Amino acid sequence: MKLSSVCGTVAAAASLASATIWQNDQVRITHFPNTTIDPSGYKFKTYSPNSTELSYKGRWDSHFTSWYSVPGLKFGFTGNRVAITFGPETFDTTLVGYRIDGQDWQFTNVSTGATHLLVNSNTTGVSLTYPISPSAFEMRVTNWAYGVQIGAVHVGQGEKLIKIPDFPRTIEVIGDSLSAGMYASYEGLSSFAYGLGAGLGNSEYSVTAYPGICLFDKLCWGNPHGMLYQWFRTSDTSWRAQQAFGDNPEWWDFSKKPAADIVVINLGTNDNNSANNVTAEGYVAQYKMLVQGVHKVYPKAQIILMALWEGFSTFGNTYAQSTLISDVGYVPQIYSVYEYFNTKEYLANPILYDPVYNTTYPSNQTSAPFVHYFNTTGLMQHNDIGPQWHPTDAGHIKVASHLIQYIKMKFDWVLYATGPEIFHDTLYWNDNSGF
Ligand SMILES: *[C@@H]1O[C@H](CO)[C@@H](O)[C@H](O)[C@H]1NC(C)=O
Ligand SMILES: *[C@@H]1O[C@H](CO)[C@@H](O)[C@H](O)[C@H]1NC(C)=O
Ligand SMILES: *[C@@H]1O[C@H](CO)[C@@H](O)[C@H](O)[C@H]1NC(C)=O
Ligand SMILES: *[C@@H]1O[C@H](CO)[C@@H](O)[C@H](O)[C@H]1NC(C)=O
Ligand SMILES: *[C@@H]1O[C@H](CO)[C@@H](O)[C@H](O)[C@H]1NC(C)=O
Ligand SMILES: *[C@@H]1O[C@H](CO)[C@@H](O)[C@H](O)[C@H]1NC(C)=O
Ligand SMILES: *[C@@H]1O[C@H](CO)[C@@H](O)[C@H](O)[C@H]1NC(C)=O
Ligand SMILES: *[C@@H]1O[C@H](CO)[C@@H](O)[C@H](O)[C@H]1NC(C)=O
Ligand SMILES: *[C@@H]1O[C@H](CO)[C@@H](O)[C@H](O)[C@H]1NC(C)=O
Repeated sequence: MKLSSVCGTVAAAASLASATIWQNDQVRITHFPNTTIDPSGYKFKTYSPNSTELSYKGRWDSHFTSWYSVPGLKFGFTGNRVAITFGPETFDTTLVGYRIDGQDWQFTNVSTGATHLLVNSNTTGVSLTYPISPSAFEMRVTNWAYGVQIGAVHVGQGEKLIKIPDFPRTIEVIGDSLSAGMYASYEGLSSFAYGLGAGLGNSEYSVTAYPGICLFDKLCWGNPHGMLYQWFRTSDTSWRAQQAFGDNPEWWDFSKKPAADIVVINLGTNDNNSANNVTAEGYVAQYKMLVQGVHKVYPKAQIILMALWEGFSTFGNTYAQSTLISDVGYVPQIYSVYEYFNTKEYLANPILYDPVYNTTYPSNQTSAPFVHYFNTTGLMQHNDIGPQWHPTDAGHIKVASHLIQYIKMKFDWVLYATGPEIFHDTLYWNDNSGF
């Protein structure tokens, strides 16, 4: 059982991937429209990026630049035309997904400084106002390391933007490349983290995940900090963020958005790699601090600790999940963190973590149990993990589906996504009756 390669490939994490979509070593044929226009040829009403009608989803900084995985922009509009001008901080050739309401995702390659016409009179759903009302335009950035800056949003002359209220529930996934959707077809938009948030329906979701990152605060695979530090900052650990902020990233203002009701944490696969020099004790200590930090900023959130699955290996005459046959994946460590937060002693005297002073302190209130353990053993099989040790599109769908069912049963969340497309390009079928 040679597992040293389990996460070696996560090292590629920090580099910027090409946007070409690969499918089993071949370039997937795509027909993404070129949506670039010369705006001088159009009569627009133009809104600035700080317009109150615009709802930013996930992490965006004070310059309206996006960070982490699947950050989004959503708004309603009148008329049949929407264009966006992407500012100078946009990473050239970022692939974005966009759609109206529950229509299928469309994709386009966005250029720095360009204006892209994303909705016109031919766009599916453009004039339909039923049953989702008000009708909304939504855009999501697919790649974690790339990002866009909103320069302006345009609608037809005489038309206007409409503020779309937030959904009443909020879920956040904190993770690494596994949650960010690395090596999946549409990256963030193919990830289990997105599939969980979007798949629950009627929920806001934020995926604060970045490839290669450790939970423990140290350099891992080129990421200068671990999540214990980075999650409290607006930006991620990308080269792009290091260029923009150096060693002084903006603090994330948690009060700007509704608190998460559920937080899912999937971190440790990079910590559990000898290349990164994190100790089991250090991991457990900082995992507790991260949970205490989440509890401080979201006092009412239920926090789900995901068990790590690592990889799969041949095992005798079959295959087995690595955590079952080798000492990997911090299995007892993560379980011990879950147990720690569920003792009577802890709940009587909970502790909070203050990221500003990087210190823990006793809370003055008792707590009901809020930390849960999500066992991932048995959800995926060996062929749900691709050659680069990350879930395939099918693997992501399995993990998302199981998480959705867990959350439904555990927290009584109603499943509202009853039709709209969640995962794009997963429609494989065989309608050949004659072979
Ligand atoms: C986006 O555009 C760049 C430059 O033209 C190209 O290299 C890349 O493959 C495109 N990405 C997609 C997904 O089409
Ligand atoms: C997309 O269209 C614009 C405007 O017509 C043009 O300048 C640009 O070269 C096109 N881009 C690609 C990748 O074809
Ligand atoms: C948006 O920014 C402009 C220019 O900085 C400012 O004049 C305007 O008041 C801002 N609007 C909102 C809604 O904050
Ligand atoms: C809509 O599609 C038709 C047929 O392809 C085309 O002729 C027309 O120019 C399109 N309209 C717009 C606004 O793109
Ligand atoms: C990985 O996790 C296992 C527990 O599953 C632990 O025994 C081992 O020391 C860890 N290895 C590294 C490199 O962190
Ligand atoms: C891990 O420790 C070794 C030995 O001290 C050191 O050479 C290496 O740079 C460290 N790597 C990281 C990522 O901290
Ligand atoms: C915060 O404290 C931990 C130890 O508790 C340390 O590993 C980490 O580097 C510190 N972070 C900062 C930003 O000083
Ligand atoms: C607990 O601490 C908070 C913030 O420090 C304070 O606002 C609150 O009044 C305190 N509650 C009690 C019961 O001491
Ligand atoms: C997780 O699930 C596996 C497979 O069902 C089981 O063997 C293991 O005991 C479970 N772990 C915990 C902590 O319940």
